[in-house]
Amino acid sequence: MSSRFYITTPIYYVNAEPHLGHAYSTVVADVQSRFHRLIGDETFFLTGTDEHGDKIVQAAEKMGVSPKEYTDLISDKFRKTWPLLNIHPDRFIRTTDPQHIATVQRVLQKVYDQGDIEFREYEGLYCFGCERFLIERELEDGKCPDHKVEPTPLKEKNYFFLMSKYQDWLIDHIKSHPDFIGPERYRNEVLSFLRDPLDDLCISRPVSRLTWGVPLPFDENFVTYVWFDALINYLTGLDYPDGENFSKFWPVANHVIAKDILKPHGIYWPIMLHAIGLEPYKALHVHGYWKIKEEKMSKSLGNIIRPGWLVEEFGVDATRYCLMREMNFGLDASFSHEGFVTRINADLANDLGNLFSRSVTMLHKFRKGIVPPERGLEGPQAQLRDMAREIIPQWKKLMEEFKVHSALEMLWRLFNTANKAIDSAAPWQLAKDETKSEALDDILYCLMETLRLGGVMLSPVMPDTAKKMISSMGLDPESEICDEALLWGRLKEGACVEKIPPLFPRIGPSKKEAKEAKGAKKKSQGDKTKKMDKKEEDKNTENLITIDDFAKIELKVAEIVSAEKHPNADRLLKLTVKAPEERTIVAGIAEHFSPEELVGKKVVIVANLKPVKLRGVTSQGMLLVAKDSSGLHLLSVDPETEPGAKVS
Ligand code: MSP
Repeated sequence: MSSRFYITTPIYYVNAEPHLGHAYSTVVADVQSRFHRLIGDETFFLTGTDEHGDKIVQAAEKMGVSPKEYTDLISDKFRKTWPLLNIHPDRFIRTTDPQHIATVQRVLQKVYDQGDIEFREYEGLYCFGCERFLIERELEDGKCPDHKVEPTPLKEKNYFFLMSKYQDWLIDHIKSHPDFIGPERYRNEVLSFLRDPLDDLCISRPVSRLTWGVPLPFDENFVTYVWFDALINYLTGLDYPDGENFSKFWPVANHVIAKDILKPHGIYWPIMLHAIGLEPYKALHVHGYWKIKEEKMSKSLGNIIRPGWLVEEFGVDATRYCLMREMNFGLDASFSHEGFVTRINADLANDLGNLFSRSVTMLHKFRKGIVPPERGLEGPQAQLRDMAREIIPQWKKLMEEFKVHSALEMLWRLFNTANKAIDSAAPWQLAKDETKSEALDDILYCLMETLRLGGVMLSPVMPDTAKKMISSMGLDPESEICDEALLWGRLKEGACVEKIPPLFPRIGPSKKEAKEAKGAKKKSQGDKTKKMDKKEEDKNTENLITIDDFAKIELKVAEIVSAEKHPNADRLLKLTVKAPEERTIVAGIAEHFSPEELVGKKVVIVANLKPVKLRGVTSQGMLLVAKDSSGLHLLSVDPETEPGAKVS
């Protein structure tokens, strides 16, 4: 029986542009919404942007524009990022939408009227990053563990939401609903928070200090913002209170967040909902952090990976796959470019890509691309068939439990069993023996059917790849990516399978790396034959240039003003040089120089190279170095030379 499913992401602050961390939560939600659509659920997927508060005003000031102009700009960047990742929410909400402001005011008035809001003086430690008061126990070395800054002592009169009176209700609710917060560790974390008495929640700011918020309907001198404003987006998104979507989807609300905002979602939000007389959400799904070299990826730490860079380099499906496969939902994961490349080559190019192309090639070679009948024989094919049948319900369960990484792992066990089945059944041998014709039919059928089922099961994570696989079998992905298709035996005898280009070409070394590797190989060959010498000689003459060619190259002296590791590639350094204007140069010298030893050096650069993007950072020029058997040496110049001086 089909049911309903409502999935949300956090609404992201517009003080930063979208990065891999935001992309992860949003891909998780998209994967879930595709999965639930696949199994026939009526689904609603909400994401959006959180646009009020101090941080936003500060960011707008920094850019020299009004908060409205600023929020329009950044919100749009979020909105436009999601389709790049093939993410398609049903609604994109902004907290500056008039409908949302009206909903927040309505809720505030209700809670105020029933006596759950109080005006009083408060003194505490406020973290501007978290936009809330922190308690001593949350601090690490006196600092906010997420923003690594000491919170500011603040004393002012404000409105407070009286959360503490609902504390016992919340504890009971969590205890009686084991799936309310997951994975388990986060449920325990919330219960452990609730062992201490809850503080009431400060929900206002005086307009004297901040105007960029939702005005309190009962006191024009104050605005509410942050949590009371932001969390309510999950209701506005469904047109609470009277919208049809609200009655349809609120009972099946699933929120995806990272652990940074566990407390507001695990404590404030259910209490707010209870106070306004609503059932709390159905489930909160909490994931860990994407880290780079042990640090959380965040704007404040400056170690950002943009989703667009990954899509540009790896493609949409491979990026979505790596995000889902490399993070065990609930735990932290480390991002590394190499990790993604290895994962893509091993899982996508090798395991899946080869399986698909081997199977289709054999089907063409031995059966002219036409799916043979299934013979139901014993042997490697039977093992594959049994495994595929067994996996379907397990895969569904793992997907439902948000264990997408395990669901993928399981699917890859099936693909690897199929690869092994090819090796043990050896269709090329069967094809040589007329009496083995049925066995050949059977293995070819089982391979194609495994790939069809695999395609359906991959579709939430890799929608384009799934479509390619399914349509190559002459099936319509629109109707064949559905719950009924998750059944062994749907692929019919006589179906025509088309040969298509490799699903995932192997990612090799970049052209430059390949050239360098070739050069190194050449050198080690030592004594070349005469013939080779001649070839080399010809090539050398071919490579000679004229003075006019040389005149095209503009060489300049540049001073390195700062140097740092490239966020996305171990071999690269990102240099800021003065020549005399400042520019960024990405240089492949990280294995030879530390950033520190470069700062202050005067070097020679090629100044008129067309800018190129290297692993996401634009490089405006090239650093000259000399290479000998001991390594690389900078082409340095007399320290007196002014930055920008022409080299001729
Ligand atoms: N505006 C609030 C959320 C309000 S929801 C009612 C907010 N915004 S945020 O822009 O800071 O986004 C935080 C969320 O972004 C995290 O909960 C997570 O979903 C995602 N991530 C941001 N950085 C991340 C990582 N480094 N790793 C994983 N997810 C991360 O908090």
